[in-house]
Amino acid sequence: MFSSPESERPLAAVGALSRSRGVEHRGQTCLAGRVQGVEQKRDGSDATAILRVAEAEIGRDLRQQVQALLQACFPGYPSRSYFKLPPHFRYLAMTSGVLVAQMGVELRVIRVGSTVVRTFGVVDLCVRTSERSHGLAGRLLAEVTELARSCGVDFVILFADDGRLYTRGGWARAANPCSWVKIHDHTTLGLATAEDTGSLMVKRIGQQAWPIGEVDLLGHLF
Ligand SMILES: CC(C)(COP(=O)(O)OP(=O)(O)OC[C@H]1O[C@@H](n2cnc3c(N)ncnc32)[C@H](O)[C@@H]1OP(=O)(O)O)[C@@H](O)C(=O)NCCC(=O)NCCS
Repeated sequence: MFSSPESERPLAAVGALSRSRGVEHRGQTCLAGRVQGVEQKRDGSDATAILRVAEAEIGRDLRQQVQALLQACFPGYPSRSYFKLPPHFRYLAMTSGVLVAQMGVELRVIRVGSTVVRTFGVVDLCVRTSERSHGLAGRLLAEVTELARSCGVDFVILFADDGRLYTRGGWARAANPCSWVKIHDHTTLGLATAEDTGSLMVKRIGQQAWPIGEVDLLGHLF
């Protein structure tokens, strides 16, 4: 299995966006620059807005909410808003100005065997306990899938021990050998390899079949 240290925790995440709507969200000035959002009706009178936000444009207040949600959802999560390195963008689900779900997404070119493929890697998908089992995570995964299609991304990949949510969304286990860069607390430790991570899941977006061969993540584990 994993030759990486305990600190190398496989995580999953997701996101996506469809219709573009402006930058303002309940007057939150912490969201500077390009933000896209989709209003989502909930059972009651309230609505959850799903936003796609570039990581660099997330302001301090919202970043603190992200960190608090991650620490609440993942026991032992470090005291920052990302596990290894910040993702490129996130999907944020906001209800009444409060962050209720989030998913990080990284644009990563990886090599599988001799084939170089363009992927979105999903990390740290999580939903506030009180909001679970209402399809929110599934919705974020559907959004990132839609974005991947519109961006010509070949695959959306993630690492998950529990595959239920993802199998339902069209992901499948992939048993390729895998290698990645071990990073712990901003220090590069070396290279990790696994014959089969047991947790890699892949969703095909385009016409290309998932290749045979070793997966070289060309970076850290998602
Ligand atoms: C996993 C999680 C994001 C699901 O969010 P959600 O909004 O409740 O998801 P959905 O409503 O779209 O789907 C719920 C289904 O996901 C599946 N599921 C539950 N926990 C899961 C988990 N940890 N991993 C994968 N699938 C899970 C179940 O089949 C569940 O169905 P149920 O509600 O009938 O039991 C949420 O439970 C969570 O934040 N867990 C803690 C963090 C975590 O484990 N994230 C996943 C990292 S890979």
